Amino acid sequence: MKFFAPFALLAAALVSASPVEKRSDPFGIDVSSNQGSVNWSSWKSKGVTFAYIKATEGVSYINPDFSSQYTGATKAGMIRGGYHFAHPNDGAGSTQASYFLKHGGGWSADGRTLPGALDIEYNPSKGSPECYGLSHSSMVSWVSSFSSEYHSKTGRYPVIYTTTDWWKSCTGNSGAFASNSPLWIAHPGSSIGPLPAGWKYTTFWQYGTESHTDVNKFNGDATGLKKIALGH
Ligand SMILES: *[C@@H]1O[C@H](CO)[C@@H](O)[C@H](O)[C@H]1NC(C)=O
Repeated sequence: MKFFAPFALLAAALVSASPVEKRSDPFGIDVSSNQGSVNWSSWKSKGVTFAYIKATEGVSYINPDFSSQYTGATKAGMIRGGYHFAHPNDGAGSTQASYFLKHGGGWSADGRTLPGALDIEYNPSKGSPECYGLSHSSMVSWVSSFSSEYHSKTGRYPVIYTTTDWWKSCTGNSGAFASNSPLWIAHPGSSIGPLPAGWKYTTFWQYGTESHTDVNKFNGDATGLKKIALGH
């Protein structure tokens, strides 16, 4: 059974964990150009074993630090993958999936590549609608278009990164992706909180920040993480 109970214990442990304490369960970070040059060996010494690295946004932004970050994570022996920040008002889901795949979001069964993640959440443009002006059904169609394209090119469904609050507001709490896409829930604090409809557990949990970097837990052990990488 892999939900809630392991995290409740973990959360209790994390509260008392010092930032340099080495974790035994898979612990990861996600980075973007905000982190620039990442000291991967330092993170590795703190127990980080996986990383998601921002590759792209919409159809016109490439993280300028993607290559060096991806290479750094690889050299440090981490299991890593790319993520795409969705701009659902700026091009079809399939178009954005292709853009992501062209610029680092691909997947291969080498045992150290995580399936690409779709980061879909609050519209970062100030004064713009949080759901990008899309209706629930249009948002669900957009995600479906992204997901189908990613799946047709890689054989994997993307991981979906979101918050329960945004997902409820902007998809009408769609359960349409729960059977295919692993969930990566963003919920800072000591508990995961309620999940979106359909998902019985979350695969990744972004629970907070350390050293100006988002920190995440994998819901399982190192073998489970490897299985996600391999697509088993
Ligand atoms: C990275 O962090 C380690 C400590 O874990 C430190 O010894 C090393 O100098 C750092 N490297 C850079 C380039 O800052």
